[in-house]
Amino acid sequence: MIDRPTIDRILDAANIVDVVGEFVQLKKRGVNYLGLCPFHNEKTPSFTVSPSKEIFKCFGCGKVGNSVNFIMEHEHLTYPEALKYLARKFHIEVIEKELSREELEKQNERESLLVVTAYAARQFTENLFNTDEGITIGLTYFKERGFRQDTLKKFELGYSLEKRDAFSKRAVEEGYKQDFLVKTGLSIQGEEKIFDRFSGRVMFPIHSLSGQVLGFGGRILKKDAKTAKYLNSPESEIYHKSRILYGMYQARKTITQEDKCYMVEGYTDVMSMHEAGIENVVASSGTSLTVEQVKLVKRFTPNLTILYDGDSAGIKASIRGIDIVLEEGMNVKIVLLPEGEDPDSYSKKVSNEEFRQYLKNNETDFIRFKTQLLMSEASNDPVLKANLIRDVVKSIAVIPEAITRTVYIKECSTLLEVAEPILYNEVNKLRSQKNFQDRNKYPGPEDLPVKPQPVIRQIKQEPVSYYSEREIIRLLLKFGSVEFERLINKEDGREEILTVADYVVRELTSDELDFSDSVCSRIFAEFRFHSQQGLITGDKVFVKHEDPAISSLAADLLADSYELSKIWKEKQTYVETEEMKLREIVSDAVLKFKSDKINILRKEIMLQLEEAVKNNDKERTILLQKRYSSLSVALGVISKQLGGRILL
Ligand code: CTP
Ligand code: MN
Repeated sequence: MIDRPTIDRILDAANIVDVVGEFVQLKKRGVNYLGLCPFHNEKTPSFTVSPSKEIFKCFGCGKVGNSVNFIMEHEHLTYPEALKYLARKFHIEVIEKELSREELEKQNERESLLVVTAYAARQFTENLFNTDEGITIGLTYFKERGFRQDTLKKFELGYSLEKRDAFSKRAVEEGYKQDFLVKTGLSIQGEEKIFDRFSGRVMFPIHSLSGQVLGFGGRILKKDAKTAKYLNSPESEIYHKSRILYGMYQARKTITQEDKCYMVEGYTDVMSMHEAGIENVVASSGTSLTVEQVKLVKRFTPNLTILYDGDSAGIKASIRGIDIVLEEGMNVKIVLLPEGEDPDSYSKKVSNEEFRQYLKNNETDFIRFKTQLLMSEASNDPVLKANLIRDVVKSIAVIPEAITRTVYIKECSTLLEVAEPILYNEVNKLRSQKNFQDRNKYPGPEDLPVKPQPVIRQIKQEPVSYYSEREIIRLLLKFGSVEFERLINKEDGREEILTVADYVVRELTSDELDFSDSVCSRIFAEFRFHSQQGLITGDKVFVKHEDPAISSLAADLLADSYELSKIWKEKQTYVETEEMKLREIVSDAVLKFKSDKINILRKEIMLQLEEAVKNNDKERTILLQKRYSSLSVALGVISKQLGGRILL
């Protein structure tokens, strides 16, 4: 935990122009700076930085925030990580809670292992490019396979000499501890001395998101060798296979820009795709996908396209693994390569343009792909077909987003020739199962059954204003920094932009209306504070808030619309309408919130009134009656503004 004074010092020091300027070329334009947005592809700059407001904003993609937000977004760091990053940059000492002895030891060990892997990576590249053995064996091999020199450099490829202890011996001589050499798996403990794990192999370093070398894959060069084609680093304090995607370090920037990630199987597939000009690609390294890997991709984009080799044997087995991707609410597509080809071979066979076209033309939505694949086998066999329907229904049922499920149900109903209601029923049945609900720990409002069913309302003590409070917070999180209206300042005639947050804060503060829900109330307080300081509050601040109650509410409220926006953008409906009708939606939400609050107040007054009447307290009775009727008048006004809708 970083303490508050340190955070403040970091925020004070982190000049937005310096922070952004490290990654974006900025040109001065009036009081602001202008550059090409790093978060989306653009040719004419619409990314502005305001040194006075200490914020950046892209008028193209709408990204906006302060220095910390920029680093979080750009470097994909959490809030505390971004703070530490900035602290380092601006030479501010970070005072953190003291680590326990164990934690300290663990941290030291991690760092030692990273030092060793970095050293090894340097040795291996040195071998590949600058030793006779490396050049004649390793470099020749890569050249024969048609890889370019700059690609080898980009992926820091290397070569491990054939002599069984060449690496280990030198490392020890140069002062690296045997213990760490063994723990990283670079060396193997023999009876008397240590040996190299990877001798005589070309080396593929596996990087962390920030480019540290965590481990290696080593490929044997001989065709008929009895040993495995690839050897990989064993699990260690720094290398956890299930959490790593090969190529993520080299791909992350393009994944963000293209808002899409390709997934292939092998190291060489990743390299070949880069050579074909496609850089948003990672490899699962031949194993089935894990939840951690999916979440890693999801940090960058919800759009995942998986490339399958054209030798359909493995496909059926591996498509089962894809339900975990759907479960994360991602959009999954499949490209099946031509018979006998993998991305490496096929990208080398055709021109870059043809390869791109192929990917584009053959991209199929996962559920459709799966349905068609299974249909082609089940054809007329009713038992097979029943199994197939169950299988497809299972995939649809794990999708967290109700609207997406509905779309798929419609489509599969046609493909499978099964009536929609039957599919709805099956999906809902699965979703209501106990173990299913346990698996999806955070059911949101979208987890209600797809088709409206009579719902027995649980009598829970939720305040009357529960939904309107959440709606206000959702709108603040999602659209807080969006322009609500422009005002002309009466004194100096200058134009002022009122954001949605400014408007909501002004409306709710002037009436001194409080939130009943404490988490909502805390989020609102931050918006109020920022708005009154003339700052803009980024939504990520809350999603990554240190207080888990706040971050989970924020994520909850944002997740729903986030996925909607991704899905519906292409079909351009829902979110666009929400944005287009923003003024209406926001002011309605404010009115609804106020009317809820007034209703709560009226109820309270009614109780007090009864009390006063009972006690024969005339003075108080009259006072309360007056207050009651003035609240009723206010309610009437609001109701009129809301278009005559009756407010309960
Ligand atoms: N793999 C592995 N161990 C093996 C075989 C494969 O770890 N014995 C992993 C590697 O990460 C490899 C991926 O599975 O990159 C895909 O395997 P494959 O397609 O056989 O390898 P390629 O990367 O395509 O390598 P190459 O083109 O050199 O055959
Ligand atoms: Mn392959």
